[in-house]
Amino acid sequence: FPLKKYNTFGIEAFASEFIAVHSVEELKTVLIENKDKKKFVLGGGSNMLLTKNIDALVIHIDLKGKKIIQENEETVVIESQAGENWHEFVLWTIDQNFGGLENMSLIPGNVGTTPVQNIGAYGAEIKDTFISCEALHIETQEKRTFTNAECHFGYRESIFKNEVKDQYIITSVRFQLTKKNHQINTAYGDILGELAKNNISNPTIKDVSNAVIAIRQSKLPDPKELGNSGSFFKNPILLKPDFEKIHQNFPEMKYFEVSETEVKVPAGWLIEQAGLKGKRFGDAGVHKNQALVLVNYGNATGQEILAVSKKVQDTVFEKFGIAIEAEVNII
Ligand code: EPU
Repeated sequence: FPLKKYNTFGIEAFASEFIAVHSVEELKTVLIENKDKKKFVLGGGSNMLLTKNIDALVIHIDLKGKKIIQENEETVVIESQAGENWHEFVLWTIDQNFGGLENMSLIPGNVGTTPVQNIGAYGAEIKDTFISCEALHIETQEKRTFTNAECHFGYRESIFKNEVKDQYIITSVRFQLTKKNHQINTAYGDILGELAKNNISNPTIKDVSNAVIAIRQSKLPDPKELGNSGSFFKNPILLKPDFEKIHQNFPEMKYFEVSETEVKVPAGWLIEQAGLKGKRFGDAGVHKNQALVLVNYGNATGQEILAVSKKVQDTVFEKFGIAIEAEVNII
């Protein structure tokens, strides 16, 4: 079964078997009937690089629906099924004037995979509004609710990438959003600039969403036009003493303090300074507007993209002595 349409990198790879499920009941049945088979869970396919064919039953989570669970004067709890497209979901919340997700507009992928890596952009992360998610245990089909605290969220991290990796399928997610007194968050530099361009000084959640969309469109390639998985690498976090040593040699290096002891360095800056921004190797390359993104110009194989990612890691390490780690799941 061809997976090209099911991964935003647009890699040509095949699954030995494929099934799409549209309800939790159907998912349970599929898990029971295929108990002894190897399984591979596929959501929006927006955060993975396929380097080979998948010799397993691929289960595509296509659960749809969203509803209000509870509300009061000020806040509302929304539940979305895992297979809803994230950006469409965000736009829907903004249309209802529910605030909290606007800074995360236009992120590719589906709602069900957002907790896995605690997606975030422009000063917001999923953990800020996430209440809980429901998940099915793949082996036992037992239902479990994970609260925010139980998810152990960190920068692009959660329990689903660590302690319970590959054990659960997330079926729905609940968010608590505001109905009034929205916490407008324009702290991330680019947003204010974008709003100012449009003479907006008192932005609504819709204005913030529009600004984020404009910024993303100017830097990040649309997977429909150019295969990619967003940021391919995480921004490295360094201990302050280690950072200070490197910073002495590269005083112009950009950085953000993340705690008393740690500093985050934008990997896009490191890659650009290492001379790799916009570089193309056959059909694989480093995006011209955002060096953190690797792209498939058409017919790159997963192995070719992987080779470019290794080259980027090696070149950055040689120049700065900083190791950068992939954010994307390499399959
Ligand atoms: N930079 C460069 N050259 C580049 C790219 C970035 O010098 O080619 C510099 C910028 O000038 C800026 C800094 O790096 O000073 C940060 O750049 P940007 O605001 O574009 O964000 P980022 O750190 O590169 C992260 C997320 C993105 C998210 C943006 C905005 C990670 C791994 N990536 O990128 O997330 O959209 O911040 O919040 O944390 C994703 O996860 O797929 C993703 C796109």
